[in-house]
Amino acid sequence: MSAQIIDGTALSARLRADIGARAEALAAAGRRPGLAVILVGDDPASAVYVRNKVKACQAHGLHSVLETYDGALSEAALLARIAALNADPAIHGILVQMPLPAHIDPHKVIAAIATAKDVDGFSVHSAGALMAGLPGLRPATPYGCMKLIESTGQALRGKHAVVLGRSNTVGKPMALLLLQAHATVTVCHSATPDLGRYTREADVVVAAVGRRDTLRADMVKPGAIVIDVGMNRNDAGRLCGDVDFAAVREVAGWITPVPGGVGPMTITMLLANTLQAAAAQAGPPA
Ligand code: GUN
Repeated sequence: MSAQIIDGTALSARLRADIGARAEALAAAGRRPGLAVILVGDDPASAVYVRNKVKACQAHGLHSVLETYDGALSEAALLARIAALNADPAIHGILVQMPLPAHIDPHKVIAAIATAKDVDGFSVHSAGALMAGLPGLRPATPYGCMKLIESTGQALRGKHAVVLGRSNTVGKPMALLLLQAHATVTVCHSATPDLGRYTREADVVVAAVGRRDTLRADMVKPGAIVIDVGMNRNDAGRLCGDVDFAAVREVAGWITPVPGGVGPMTITMLLANTLQAAAAQAGPPA
């Protein structure tokens, strides 16, 4: 039997409607949530991503500013802009689009963002809070994956989840979020021999390695939940994920498509984080 498709576009629309309503409520109280997005350089893919982030803010009642800089911008100048945005009461979230030009140290830049405004959840403080099980802002992509898994109605407690990939932005925080949901978690990566040995035992697989056809049908347990974070191109130039979708959907119980799965959720959770940041910065109710 064919897997149920987990529709990230539809789930996003539901969550965004709620985000829009909550943004208006904060705005009515004089605190419209605000996101600053900084792009340095002229990477065309990054330009599309930041435009989509700003457009999503505009469509859901969030204030947004997009600052674009020449690739020659100095690290000191970027840090000075972040300091100014940290002090700006109309801005509750700051996102510096990665990758940055080689002369700018991304770790220094991320560390310069006020913890309360770290809507990417990339800072050492945010990552530490996640590891310690403390409240905080979670990286948008794995946070969105959790919402997609939740939408299946299947409990994670006691299930075996296998994460393919160990990046700081997806794989590692994904593993921690799954642990927090009481799954038993295995993290596989480029040095793992025989991925299938692990994935065949998995009730949930999250694929985030950036290589198409990494997860094939013979590697999937019947009925498993498969979440595909990949964004690759096939030989025909069409967008595809890390999963052999056509074959795996015949084995899995649930599966996210690419496009239309994780992609829309990433921006949605960025909006959710900006809202969370704005609500937290508003302080306790009067
Ligand atoms: N580049 C690609 N994805 C992301 C993201 O989620 N946040 C930032 N800041 N840069 C990115």
